[in-house]
Amino acid sequence: MRNFRKLIQLIVISGVLLVLNVSIAQEETPAYLDPLLDVEARIDDLLRRMTLEEKLGQMTLVEKNSITEGSVTTFYVGSILSGGGGYPAEENSPEAWANMVDGFQQAALDTRLSIPLIYGVDAVHGHNNLYGATIFPHNVGLGAGDNPELVQEIARITAVETIATGIYWNYAPVMAVPQDIRWGRTYEGFGEDTELVSRLSNAYLVGMQRGELGSPMSVLGTPKHYIGDGGTTWGTSIDRGNIDRGDTLVDEETLRAVHLPPYIEAMDNGAMSIMVSYSSWNGEPMHSNDYLVNDVLKGELGFEGFVVSDWGGLDLVANDYYDAVVMSINAGVDMNMVPFNYPLFIDTLNEAIENGDVTMERIDDAVRRILRAKFMMGLFENPFSDRTLFDRIGAPEHREIARQAVQESLVLLKNDNNALPIAADTDVIFVAGAGSDDIGYQSGGWTIEWMGRIGPVTEGNTILDGIEEHVSEDTEVYFNAFGRFNSVTDDDDNPIIADVGIVVLAEFPYAEWEGDDAFLEFIPEDVEMIQQMQERAEQVIVITLSGRPMIIANYLDQADAFVAAWLPGSEGSGVADVLFGEVPFTGRLPYTWPRTIEQIPFDFTTLPTEGCDAPLFPYGYGLTVEDSTSPWLTLAIECAAEAN
Ligand code: BGC
Ligand code: BGC
Repeated sequence: MRNFRKLIQLIVISGVLLVLNVSIAQEETPAYLDPLLDVEARIDDLLRRMTLEEKLGQMTLVEKNSITEGSVTTFYVGSILSGGGGYPAEENSPEAWANMVDGFQQAALDTRLSIPLIYGVDAVHGHNNLYGATIFPHNVGLGAGDNPELVQEIARITAVETIATGIYWNYAPVMAVPQDIRWGRTYEGFGEDTELVSRLSNAYLVGMQRGELGSPMSVLGTPKHYIGDGGTTWGTSIDRGNIDRGDTLVDEETLRAVHLPPYIEAMDNGAMSIMVSYSSWNGEPMHSNDYLVNDVLKGELGFEGFVVSDWGGLDLVANDYYDAVVMSINAGVDMNMVPFNYPLFIDTLNEAIENGDVTMERIDDAVRRILRAKFMMGLFENPFSDRTLFDRIGAPEHREIARQAVQESLVLLKNDNNALPIAADTDVIFVAGAGSDDIGYQSGGWTIEWMGRIGPVTEGNTILDGIEEHVSEDTEVYFNAFGRFNSVTDDDDNPIIADVGIVVLAEFPYAEWEGDDAFLEFIPEDVEMIQQMQERAEQVIVITLSGRPMIIANYLDQADAFVAAWLPGSEGSGVADVLFGEVPFTGRLPYTWPRTIEQIPFDFTTLPTEGCDAPLFPYGYGLTVEDSTSPWLTLAIECAAEAN
């Protein structure tokens, strides 16, 4: 009896506690804010509470210059981005960045349901819009290095530097498998080989997300651009350039074999945001490709995250904006990178729902996917910048890793007469070419500005700095951007002959379609410096700074050594580490190097390996200073002679 009464008491007490609990939960902390609850339960709870307006806000991604904090609150905007060059208007400093991003975040948290926004950037080779951040080699260089552990580390460092400024979303890695190096985005890809791209882009994704979203220092990665961005045909661009945003004219088997594998692997690595490509597949824009987005990506591959459009990419799928919105959202695009006129997008989508052209089920699915990523990231718990990390931005230990990446990226194409390594106690060295002492040239596009910029665009060191670091006290190093060394004479006014002459040939920085190039030639004035250098130096070493292989076959014989250095980023001195033999050459070509522009595009299935129709250097080519003989070099000389 006593026991029974006790039992009743217990039941009553726990009942009261339960009721209390529930009411506390309802009035003070809604279930979706409980980090201990399962993510799907949190989504269910939050979705139930959301109005249509709030849902449409989640699907809207706005460029930061097109919106005020006040409008973020009014329109329930769920995400903001900085495009290329999107640093704060006042000042390009960590503090100004953190203030800008946190300011927008606070505006989102000021809404009724306090759903945090997600702020995105293209941190494609470090936090590259931020002055003073560590700038890593562009992916082409990492492809040459082919060191997945290092790529993972680079992504981890990049995440630390973006988190310092409040950014937990990165539009990287690029998973393109570029098949035609005339494409302006070739350098954003790791290489022409699917396995190489898969391996390195996924290493990057794992590093960026720290293996699991929500882990400390993890940032949401965005494999892009799904799918076939690297497979477009020259001359098929719809709105800009020649090949960028063009049409990938291949059958499904080829599309799947060449371009899909990196994404399949990304599913296993927890990808939760994927950017859809501007390009088309056999005439059908990817932004309205129901089959490849809905059926293949979300269906077959089981992608549970959200699909984000590219910058205004939705607008391109139909002439009429209403049609474009309907087609794109129904094809599976969950979030629209608008980027400017967001009230128009919201109104149009609203209208489409009223007309029954887009169902509420589709809207709920899109919002569910976006919220899933936000919950998994821990954004509801940690929405703001971590300013204690400011001193890690561009920190020496970060730059050290970037420098290692530069060292590993260099590909030795030719080395006659033991021109390399250069002895530290060389008497006189001439260094020619603007790119040899210019952080902007060596960093390329997507560096502070969208297109990049020549000059001291950010902090770092140049190839020339590195050379000066390595030489002995008695070595005289002369630099001239135009290769003019007439004034370097001895006491009798006779020209001094340098022991070593270094010529740097550089592509002018570019991004996207601005880099589409039908010729792939360095400017003639720069190329002439090689011959001029022959007259002024015992040995001539050419270093190329470029986003891709360039046409060099007819002057390959004019220099003793040739080194492809790609776009090394802020730590140019890493180039000198290898030139002076402190570190060996280990890089290998991530792209087949053409002999003539007529060879492009390559048909990789029937690529000749002999005779002058063969490429200049094959995929994977790369010499060492110990073994610098190669039949490819012999053939190069023969074919050049034949052509002249
Ligand atoms: C590019 C994307 C980039 C986006 C935002 C687009 O033009 O194609 O790669 O993420 O802009 O900057
Ligand atoms: C932005 C880039 C974007 C491009 C697309 C530029 O104005 O800064 O981020 O990729 O437009 O057209």
